[in-house]
Amino acid sequence: MAKVSRAAIEQAIQRWTEPYLGMDLLTAGTVETITTEGRRVRILLRLGFPVERYQVQLRAALVDAVTAALPEAEVAVEVGWRVTSRAVQAKLKPLANVRNIIAVASAKGGVGKSTVAANLALALADEGARVGVLDADIYGPSQPRMMGVAGRRPESPDGKSITPLENYGVQVMSIGFLIEEEAPMVWRGPMVSQALTQLLNDTRWQDLDYLIVDLPPGTGDIQLTLAQRVPVSGAVVVTTPQEIATLDARKGIRMFQKVRVPVLGVLENMSIHICSQCGHAEHIFGEGGGKRLAEAENVALIGALPLDGRIREQADNGRPSVVAEPEGRVAGLYRQAALRTAAQLSRLAAAASSPFPRIVVEE
Ligand SMILES: Nc1ncnc2c1ncn2[C@@H]1O[C@H](COP(=O)(O)OP(=O)(O)OP(=O)(O)O)[C@@H](O)[C@H]1O
Ligand SMILES: [Mg+2]
Repeated sequence: MAKVSRAAIEQAIQRWTEPYLGMDLLTAGTVETITTEGRRVRILLRLGFPVERYQVQLRAALVDAVTAALPEAEVAVEVGWRVTSRAVQAKLKPLANVRNIIAVASAKGGVGKSTVAANLALALADEGARVGVLDADIYGPSQPRMMGVAGRRPESPDGKSITPLENYGVQVMSIGFLIEEEAPMVWRGPMVSQALTQLLNDTRWQDLDYLIVDLPPGTGDIQLTLAQRVPVSGAVVVTTPQEIATLDARKGIRMFQKVRVPVLGVLENMSIHICSQCGHAEHIFGEGGGKRLAEAENVALIGALPLDGRIREQADNGRPSVVAEPEGRVAGLYRQAALRTAAQLSRLAAAASSPFPRIVVEE
């Protein structure tokens, strides 16, 4: 039997677009080695995002794609992954023990940022990543409740730094731990920035691949403080269909572009209504708004979540959908969004570490 040629294998790999990277694995630079022995082909992948759960499906899809093009080949795929940090704005000092900071933001309030932040964090942790959530919503912290750690107090072993709490394998820090739940939040701008700076400086994260920052709505002090104090690797902009109809979602995207934080993608929330009685799905605000927005702004659409009462119930009761119903449809949608977010970030990281001189375009 003739040996399968390397060129033919490479061509076969290139015929399959990996859905989260949005490109084939060879072009994405994730094929570490290809070894052949007669008909036997062994492909070793090294991905820049966590795939502990996803790798079973990934391996099967790649084996299928290569076998379809080369029916004579006996294909085996091995998968490894490692999250590297994306080199960001040079002047900012990275946070200790944090490889990547991902901001979850929106221009408008109540669109589901906190719910998305919690579920993305849990989904990334399920894929094997080390994840933390920083609740930067000084006015209305939600993460203590959503991550099921309300009422607990973090400890400060040295009297200076604070050890985040942990639940469901995710580290959690929130201004909500340091203030009374019912305390009126009448804070002036400088106080707000100071509180966030203190949270950023004093939290002792334990070796994180991703720190997900749950931002308050808008494009104000907190957002600027974050972008100016720490290197933010990328942002996820959450929008609802109503927001897409107005210009608010665009405002959110533009703000990050101005402070040079790459927008990893747009997540459309509450796009389809699922009837709690019959399960019927309906696009009450029309279809495809998120997709059009993402295309117009040249960013990825990382997901679309339905308006589903269980999402609210589960998050508000401290068990977000990814842990409440880990194999459910909704959890699956959050998992896909998380993989897409992490894959987009890994592409930026790979591009930044390429051996070619980088072209820097100044405004
Ligand atoms: N897809 C969804 N379906 C149903 N309810 C949802 C969905 N996403 C979020 N919710 C619920 O909507 C409410 C607002 O969500 P959330 O607190 O995540 O929004 P937010 O953008 O963080 O709000 P804020 O701007 O106040 O920080 C919560 O009660 C949440 O459980
Ligand atoms: Mg919130």
